[in-house]
Amino acid sequence: MIYDLIVLGGGPAGYLAAERAAHEGLSTVVIEKRSFGGCCLNEGCIPSKALLYSAKIYDYTKHGDKYGVTAENQKIDHTKVVARKNKVVKTLVSGIRGALKAKGAVAVEGEGVITGKNAAGNITVAVGNDVYEGKHILLATGSMPVVPPIPGVKDGLASGFVLTNREILDLDHIPENLTVIGGGVIGLEMASYFNSVGSKVTVVEMMDKIAGPTDREISEILMKNYEKKGIEFCLGCKVVSVENGTVTYEKDGKQESVKADKVLLSIGRRAVTQGVGIETLGVAMERGAVITDRYMKTNVANVYAAGDINGKSMLAHTAYREAEVAVNNILGKKDTMRYNAIPSVIYTNPEVGSVGETEQTAAAKGIDFAVANVSMRYSGRYVAENEGGDGICKVLINKKYGNVIGVHMICNYASEIIWGAALAIEQEMTLEKMKEVVFPHPTVSEIIREAIFTM
Ligand code: NAI
Repeated sequence: MIYDLIVLGGGPAGYLAAERAAHEGLSTVVIEKRSFGGCCLNEGCIPSKALLYSAKIYDYTKHGDKYGVTAENQKIDHTKVVARKNKVVKTLVSGIRGALKAKGAVAVEGEGVITGKNAAGNITVAVGNDVYEGKHILLATGSMPVVPPIPGVKDGLASGFVLTNREILDLDHIPENLTVIGGGVIGLEMASYFNSVGSKVTVVEMMDKIAGPTDREISEILMKNYEKKGIEFCLGCKVVSVENGTVTYEKDGKQESVKADKVLLSIGRRAVTQGVGIETLGVAMERGAVITDRYMKTNVANVYAAGDINGKSMLAHTAYREAEVAVNNILGKKDTMRYNAIPSVIYTNPEVGSVGETEQTAAAKGIDFAVANVSMRYSGRYVAENEGGDGICKVLINKKYGNVIGVHMICNYASEIIWGAALAIEQEMTLEKMKEVVFPHPTVSEIIREAIFTM
């Protein structure tokens, strides 16, 4: 059989593309070598949220006194937490399998290797002895953790002293001392969990701030919150070696060491483009990632790519949209991918939600902008629920056109609120139009309304 579409990789980009394509009537096969749901569902977004939710409940029991609630003998059973996380993953993975089946997509478990184009111009993919032939292919093989050539890291990974996002989620105990290399999203979310459940956590970050491209003031508030909770941050510190029991870093030309029972390596991810036969098609790549245009096309006819493999945004929700754009273009419906209104969230407590330009990126692009910066204390709901909370919300507008170009917030529910800001940016809403929107009261989301009315 010749499929209309072969999807290589069953993560967020791959499974969603297969579902959409099959729904639209394309004969579709999706090939996955590990587990449907990919990194996001099996060893990333979802399992980490399950752990963080347990930690949040535990934190509430420990610090309920300021809300008039006291609990005694609070305990966290890490084994039970991990078991519940596994149950959540299992449920959702079977949900994806069910959805693929319901839509009529063929789901194949096995390692797919592209073998090239045949005489008819169709793309061929081998899975063991089986060969699949398709008119189009969507490359969606995702990403894997960057493993730097730092002495001791490779051996540490082999011995289980150094962990990546995959292994740390299944740790069978709570380490006394956890050192996190890299203060980005994975590092911070895992630092948050292990801090809540009792580890002494140290985050070693090469840059002078945590949370990567997040607004600088918000990064600093987040760091202060976690310093109060006992996490130690070493900023401007480059890890130079790792050996059983210690992590050594360099700061201002001097070497210092921190004790570690386990190390989390979270210094970024890189696209998976090796060993899948992409080169047999002649697909153009840049810095290890597949180059895609705004239709998610590569340089080779009928070859599309979506998700982390193009190294553009490396977020599951970006992957979903890229997958839809690819499928729509395969179907002949013109659709374009835009990256200016992609929200990002750090699921710490408090959460960070961001979308669009920050003051730093807007200034770097020479945009003439205005910013409203308000304390979360203008939200009644926030004050009612956050004793001593120090969150803020920032809204940026482009002064020339009056449209909203960025929203950044650090507060509870930020993850659930930020999509509204993405909508405003995506739809190029002006400040005046946004002022006409009625927000439910009392909600933390009202802070956006408060912010725009200061402008
Ligand atoms: P990241 O790129 O977010 O952060 C890596 C950090 O490591 C950077 O701050 C960098 O300066 C630092 N670093 C690099 N080399 C270092 C060294 N030798 N010593 C000390 N620090 C060093 O990468 P992360 O956290 O591994 O996440 C990977 C990907 O997963 C990201 O692209 C992210 O978008 C995605 N992700 C998203 C989540 C979310 O949306 N909530 C959650 C988890 C992951």
